[in-house]
Amino acid sequence: MSAEIHDTASFDEVLEQRFGRRTALKAVLGVGGAVVATATVGVDAVVAQDNNPYAPGELTYDAVPQSGTDSIVLPAGFTHDVVISWGDPVVPGAPAFDIQNQTGVAQEQQCGFNHDYLAFLPKKWGSDNSKSGLLWINHEYTDSTMMFENYTSSKGQVDVELAAHGGTVVEVVRDDDGPWTYVPTSRYNRRITANTPMTLTGPVAGDSRLQTTADPTGREVLGMLNNCGGGLTPWGTILTCEENFDQYFGRGASIPADDRGAYVKKTLASVAATTGASSRRWENVYPRFDLSLNPREYLRFGWVVEVDPYDPTSKPKKRTALGRFKHEAAAGTTSTGGKFVSYSGDDQVNQFIYKFVTSATISRKKGANADLLDSGTLYVARFDADGTGAWLPLTFGTAPLVASSAFTDQADVLIRAREAAQLLGATPMSRPEDIEVNPVTKKVYAVMTGNSGGSVNAANPRANSTSVGVPAGSSIAGQGLGHVVEITEANGDNASLTFAWEIFLLCGQPNQTGSVAVDSSPAATLSTTVADNITYWAGYDESEVSPVARVDNVSFDSRGNVFFSTDGQPSALAGPDPAAPTKLVGWNDCLIGFPTEGAERGHGKTLMTAVDGCEVTGPFFTPDDKTLFVSIQHPGVDQFVWTSPAKAPAAQIGTFAAPGSTWNTTPAIAGTTTGVPRPAALAIRRLNGKEIAYGKPDHGLESESEGLSLSNPVAGSLAVLGGLLAFRYRRMQPASEIEVG
Ligand code: FEO
Ligand code: CA
Ligand code: CA
Ligand code: CA
Repeated sequence: MSAEIHDTASFDEVLEQRFGRRTALKAVLGVGGAVVATATVGVDAVVAQDNNPYAPGELTYDAVPQSGTDSIVLPAGFTHDVVISWGDPVVPGAPAFDIQNQTGVAQEQQCGFNHDYLAFLPKKWGSDNSKSGLLWINHEYTDSTMMFENYTSSKGQVDVELAAHGGTVVEVVRDDDGPWTYVPTSRYNRRITANTPMTLTGPVAGDSRLQTTADPTGREVLGMLNNCGGGLTPWGTILTCEENFDQYFGRGASIPADDRGAYVKKTLASVAATTGASSRRWENVYPRFDLSLNPREYLRFGWVVEVDPYDPTSKPKKRTALGRFKHEAAAGTTSTGGKFVSYSGDDQVNQFIYKFVTSATISRKKGANADLLDSGTLYVARFDADGTGAWLPLTFGTAPLVASSAFTDQADVLIRAREAAQLLGATPMSRPEDIEVNPVTKKVYAVMTGNSGGSVNAANPRANSTSVGVPAGSSIAGQGLGHVVEITEANGDNASLTFAWEIFLLCGQPNQTGSVAVDSSPAATLSTTVADNITYWAGYDESEVSPVARVDNVSFDSRGNVFFSTDGQPSALAGPDPAAPTKLVGWNDCLIGFPTEGAERGHGKTLMTAVDGCEVTGPFFTPDDKTLFVSIQHPGVDQFVWTSPAKAPAAQIGTFAAPGSTWNTTPAIAGTTTGVPRPAALAIRRLNGKEIAYGKPDHGLESESEGLSLSNPVAGSLAVLGGLLAFRYRRMQPASEIEVG
């Protein structure tokens, strides 16, 4: 394709277009635009000039109550569209979905399974177009018990599973303020699967430890696996993250002792492999998944993959400079100096939080950023008990990662990033899931989904949290409730090597009390009464907030409101079934919004509760904040049956023949009265066409200023301006505009 590069709007024009308030800027800029270097002007002063009928930061929807019903529940005035589901034709000319006659050839042209990270990329990258764009979808994993009537790991079934992994690019459109649909004939529509050729780039590419019989170059890989979260770059590409890749490889106990196997065995200390048969048994069909035959294939997964969705012919690239571990996501932002910064959690108990900073600055020319992610520094976070922290470089040659250590070179450090991070003294976390950067304040929000037997420290202050309403002794209790850590980088610069941090959210039932083991040195910002009151909503009055547990994915709107989706809430929060109050019901997974600054900081309101047996993944806003895309993953699978308050719930796994949800099903399967529920991407929107967070009718929020509430003065107007330029889309500095089509 020909991606045309256009000069960007001037700095002033960008601010004017995005915020529409030249007068307001006078508070920050001197006459003629000269920066008032000594000012410490918070944006609150600016907001006060606007005639906003609602307090800055107030979410103007009514929180929906917790629900255990098998439906998508939204506040009054909201609706949702099912945009694209598993099996829907993607590539022009793809066959219609036929669940009882699936083939790999058909599946690789149809939408994959178990949607996760979503991203909306406007037609014309960098524009505000919020009615026409490309939707990227991660397909995290396959579930053979839901996809097939009888899974035998036959070659035909394995081929379907390989093709149902990866990602989808599909063009989506909205007619005025009406529903979203996808365009089945679009030339952008594309599937990427576990078989798509991709290139390894960066410091580990070509390394002998990654060379296989099929690929003696050590640079050419087939496919990506377990793509969970992701992120965007300012030049309009997707970063999609390989998470639990270990589950696809079998026979880890039989890795040969030869020079191919010896190093792979060494890496198992940090990423253990399945010793016997893998759950899907792909290794019986394709030897590259058999560790006894092709051990090095294991090292070619666990990376961040960059995809250009605007170019359907582009080859995805695995960027090894960002390290190899179970990447949940890769949240992108820009440093004060114009470098690209990507944050990533490693989702396993007692694993770490990383960030990558490029060596070079971002260019306004898209092509000039083609190799930007191949050189830079990977850091890992240490959270100190006094509320400060440091980013420690995973750089070979810098102590303690020197030749006398257990590491031999930089490739070794990147392949075994977990072990290097541990040697550096990084802080073990309670399963780090998604991380996102607040586009207004540039603070970083890192989500921990729950502490199942992990370390307790200041940044992870609760041990195995008791679940709420879940009877003692339940097999599903004790996974923890989850929490959110807020990181403020030194000088407001995302490339800084030090930071301050505090707890933003300790999930659970509001005002939940109990005795859980807590760290004896909680950060100063955390309530000292945490042992008595084990939940925390950024200090907000807990009588007014929504319950939430097991937070997982994160998305911001352009005003700095954060939305979290959850994974596993039914196992952590329960209450009386409204339909049968003598019984308990586990509360379904949800989507919850929070203002992050100002008087409403911490006032969490549930926006959506989801269907039975699913998790909610991949929330993502359009540039106008009026649509929130979100995925419904594995509907009807994880069921918890509560027969009485006294009886511990039993986990019940939905199956093809007996799914646990009747939502978004296929036509009824022959011989039964039910179909199979399908994972899907939804578009949530207001019926009145207004913004998700601030969309009350006629609120007058046509300018972009009112939501910018920075209660804490930012040190220096330069930092304020840096923050204003830090938005997703054009607001990511520098403001590239890349035309497509
Ligand atoms: Fe795939 Fe960590 O969730
Ligand atoms: Ca509390
Ligand atoms: Ca996740
Ligand atoms: Ca998860």
